[in-house]
Amino acid sequence: MHKKTIKDVDVKGKRVMVRVDFNVPLEHGQITDDRRIRAALPTVQYALRQGASKVILMSHLGRPKGAPLGAPIGAGFEPEFSLKPVAQHLEPLLKEKLLFLDDCVGSAVQAAVAKSSQRVILLENLRFHKAEEKNDPVFAKDLASLADIYVNDAFGTAHRAHASTAGITRYLPSVAGFLIDKELEYLGNAINNPKRPLAVILGGAKVSDKIELIKNLVPKVNAIVIGGGMAYTFLKAQGINVGNSKLEKDKVETARELLEQAKAAGVEMVLTIDFVITKSFDSDDCKISDTIPDGWESLDIGPKTIELYKKVLAKSKTVVWNGPLGVFERDAYANGTRVIAEYLATLFAKGVTVIVGGGDSAAAVAKFGLEEKMTHISTGGGASLEFLEGKELPGIAALNNRG
Ligand code: 3PG
Repeated sequence: MHKKTIKDVDVKGKRVMVRVDFNVPLEHGQITDDRRIRAALPTVQYALRQGASKVILMSHLGRPKGAPLGAPIGAGFEPEFSLKPVAQHLEPLLKEKLLFLDDCVGSAVQAAVAKSSQRVILLENLRFHKAEEKNDPVFAKDLASLADIYVNDAFGTAHRAHASTAGITRYLPSVAGFLIDKELEYLGNAINNPKRPLAVILGGAKVSDKIELIKNLVPKVNAIVIGGGMAYTFLKAQGINVGNSKLEKDKVETARELLEQAKAAGVEMVLTIDFVITKSFDSDDCKISDTIPDGWESLDIGPKTIELYKKVLAKSKTVVWNGPLGVFERDAYANGTRVIAEYLATLFAKGVTVIVGGGDSAAAVAKFGLEEKMTHISTGGGASLEFLEGKELPGIAALNNRG
């Protein structure tokens, strides 16, 4: 990476501020997936081992409304978006007592950080202040005033140009943490310097979300396997009846163009050939079919499609997967996503590089208990998608360059 990392700076005796992505799913105050928290540990532990005087962690959680600039202290607080449960979860993982503060800026926070006997401090949700998302320079400077060095390790938020990811870099030496370094290495190599053949599996609900991605991938990959909700728009573009299945009518022409571009570039484009169909989205009453008759909709790929995908994937040395292949949250429609995830685990065991591009596909891999059986599972949803689309991520662009 051409950006400086925490290894390039001396943190001994310094206050190190780490932007992490602790935007984790919560149900009734309980964290249901702590991958993002665990992924931040190496940077925090390294800073502590190197003798940082304080490690100040900051993050957003969810999308609270946020108080405007100048609002009274605590005005933006919304209990369901508090990072307090994260603080409680983090402490045993770190094996270190930490101080949780109920705000992220202001004189009370300044004083508490200065006199804290705990070395690790977690600030309350940055987005309780509108200024965070507005990338407000005064707010960024206030955050910066708490520390001597800024480390960005929030890969999941690197596609946002916010005060804590971009603005703050104007006021402090700014470097990447180990998670960002690792994400860029795995995702970057998979797309730009892969062991070939390289196959990409694309799923998820909407073609419109993946157009930029496909355009960026066509010149780089050997095969693209398309499943999930977005497949039906591509099938329609080939004149295949999709019944009531999810269809973006205004994207059929784009899908046709993408299929043509792939063909011209010699990229094998593999679509769904059989389906798990139902008469109603809400019903689990379904059957396997080679066609999707009128009045029916498809919610998963069928067994022939699974075999076809496996054949393509079996030839690959690198596989990148972004987006589930069916409605995997429901058992009736989880088979395609599960069997392909299990097959990817067997490929990984044979030495194939398997990269899961975060978001829903990462959730699927976790659901099927296969997290340890992939080369890398990104902690980014939108961030990994934008990175794979070839876009510059503002949170990374803003960090200090090496050399
Ligand atoms: C994510 O979960 O994708 C990141 O934490 C960014 O969250 P946001 O989409 O609310 O900015």
